[in-house]
Amino acid sequence: MKSIEKEPDAPIKKEGFTTGFAVFFATLGSAVGLGNIWKFPYLIGANGGGAFLIVYLFCIIFACMPVMVCELFIGRKTRSNAVQAFEKLKVKPFWKSIGFMGIIAAFLIMSFYSCVAGWVYLYIFKAIKGDFAGISAQSAAAQFSKASVGIISPILWQIIVIAVVSAVIIAGVQKGIERVTKTLMPILFILIIICDIRSLTLSGASQGLDFLFRIDFSKLTAQGILVALGLGFFKLSLGMGTMLTYGSYYTDDNNLIGTSAKVAVSDTIVSILAGVAIFPAVFTFGMGPDNGPGLLFMTIPLVFSKIPFGNVLLVAFFFLTAIAATTAMISMMEVPVAYLNESKKIPRKKAVLSVAVIIMLIGILASLSADGASLLGGAKVFGLTFFNLFDFVSSNILMPLGGFLILIVVGWFLSKKDFEYELSNKGSINTKTAADMLYLVIKYVTPVLLIIVFLNTLGIIRLS
Ligand code: PFF
Repeated sequence: MKSIEKEPDAPIKKEGFTTGFAVFFATLGSAVGLGNIWKFPYLIGANGGGAFLIVYLFCIIFACMPVMVCELFIGRKTRSNAVQAFEKLKVKPFWKSIGFMGIIAAFLIMSFYSCVAGWVYLYIFKAIKGDFAGISAQSAAAQFSKASVGIISPILWQIIVIAVVSAVIIAGVQKGIERVTKTLMPILFILIIICDIRSLTLSGASQGLDFLFRIDFSKLTAQGILVALGLGFFKLSLGMGTMLTYGSYYTDDNNLIGTSAKVAVSDTIVSILAGVAIFPAVFTFGMGPDNGPGLLFMTIPLVFSKIPFGNVLLVAFFFLTAIAATTAMISMMEVPVAYLNESKKIPRKKAVLSVAVIIMLIGILASLSADGASLLGGAKVFGLTFFNLFDFVSSNILMPLGGFLILIVVGWFLSKKDFEYELSNKGSINTKTAADMLYLVIKYVTPVLLIIVFLNTLGIIRLS
């Protein structure tokens, strides 16, 4: 029997990323995901375009980036997983609950995320086979319902996704995560730019761009502000220990503020590039931009199938979406795996396999309820299907709450000196002014912003 005793202070010889380049691509790989290509376009569509984009950018700068820096700071300083990090910080045991909450959030997200990623994998094959050639709106809807409803196909594809992600994680931080993200992220950029160029040469290009960038605050609601914040947390993989875990693999000489800014900017660029690929095509064929989650799986095949070379484009589009989904899932899965491996001393392979089985079990609930729960006899919890419940609880509650607690622990329970020392790479770069300003935002501004948004979510105050 292996000992599973915890040794919070024992030095761990940890495998980490090898270069700044690897750090950047792995972190960006976590941030860029279905959030950019699936959630961002339909949310911007539903919340009125450019005005939503401005609020989103505001949330990224004043709420999300400070949380990201805090997570990276804790991760690199302690070189530990999401739970053990708080033991090493020597704060009250209560704060470890951030890590446990993060692990729960990771399971919830992975359950529905792997389900959507499974549809994406399937759509690559469907596009290659030419299933979308000359389809009508009805047959696009029928194909999507065939892909997403039912038992065998959705669950099979979900299992394939989980198997691919597991294989990468078993290979380890350098041979798995680093190698895969460094190879795939540049390919994703090239593919999305090809899709953009094609889309911008369509007749609806100006209408699509107008929709994406026109600033009309009258369309923005208080609900829209909440959605933008939740999206920001989801987009940058925050509040659930993912960035903390990746931070523990960062190189000693990485500029944490610089990397956070570069990742936030690049991730936003990818979201906008995804919008630029999608909306011109959507408007060219007179479709609505507010088709909800079906935008990716019904509208896109429909409109791309009408464009010359559209089928090649569709393959490229779903392939890049699959890359995004896979690299993001890798980072989610790493949160519980790192915990089991480091804190519970379970060998990496065994840890990955156990996590994979749990995701499959919860994932099946998400998968069977994705069509409105008919397969589960219409089962709903708090009026939501399991699929929507897992999404809502993780993005709107656990991630912002985790982010809030992380800010509080850094701003109020750890020393400012330690924070500045770590951000300056132990005094080797001059980040004093930036760190000072950031500290003020972490201590006062972001927590207050988050409290206002929470009170609004709970209906205690009304933003309007
Ligand atoms: N950032 C990913 C996306 O935008 O799709 C989602 C995500 C990845 C959320 C990793 C949470 C996480 F830990």
